[in-house]
Amino acid sequence: MHITNSISEYGLIAKLFHWTIALILILQIPLGFYLVNLDYGSQRISIENIHIVFGLTIFYLTIFRLLNNILNPVPQLRSNSFIGQKFIARLNHLLLYITLILVTVSGFLKKLFNGEQLVIFFKEIKLENNFKLADQFYDIHIYANYLLIVLISLHIFAVIVHKIFFNDNILKKML
Ligand code: HEM
Ligand code: HEM
Repeated sequence: MHITNSISEYGLIAKLFHWTIALILILQIPLGFYLVNLDYGSQRISIENIHIVFGLTIFYLTIFRLLNNILNPVPQLRSNSFIGQKFIARLNHLLLYITLILVTVSGFLKKLFNGEQLVIFFKEIKLENNFKLADQFYDIHIYANYLLIVLISLHIFAVIVHKIFFNDNILKKML
């Protein structure tokens, strides 16, 4: 297996980024929904801290993954099964990246505008309280999460449709 991408195959680095982020997300999304229903107390603080650590990890991994995509361009998509298929696939991937950044950045901006402190890229960050902005970023956090769930569902649906209807096992490219 190649370490880096080739014109037709994902390399090990891209595969590790893909599956590590996917795995953390599978835990992180339900954790977020569980968190909102918890009463204030020590359990909530612990779960929120785990949510923040997972969220920051996804943020760093996404930034490094995008850098890796620049330094080491992703493989070309295989031939179209219908007109516009490659465009839709690339759009889905692009929107997944944008939404991941939106979810993570809105998460930490909500915390920061609530007057809390965060360490991001080894730098302690503290902003002046602005509860109105904190609420707005929290709304963005929620809607971006819904969008993320839709995009991931479409992404997985496409892999299944390829296999069943086009007899094309694209999953092999990512394994
Ligand atoms: C990809 C990463 C992330 C995902 C998928 C995610 C997901 C979620 C979800 C689904 C919710 C529940 C929303 C609702 O229905 O009200 C939530 C809430 C929350 N998230 Fe995230 N989140 C992520 C990253 C972050 C980050 C980086 C932070 C902060 C540093 C953060 C802070 C919060 C907070 C504070 C809440 C609300 C808790 C409350 O006040 O009830 N999240 N998140
Ligand atoms: C069971 C879950 C998943 C399966 C089976 C799956 C499968 C795949 C496959 C087969 C590809 C290669 C597509 C191609 O080049 O033809 C791919 C690419 C991709 N996947 Fe997933 N995926 C899953 C979950 C996720 C999740 C949760 C995310 C959310 C971040 C994600 C984001 C991406 C992105 C951004 C690409 C494009 C990589 C690039 O070219 O930059 N995937 N996935």
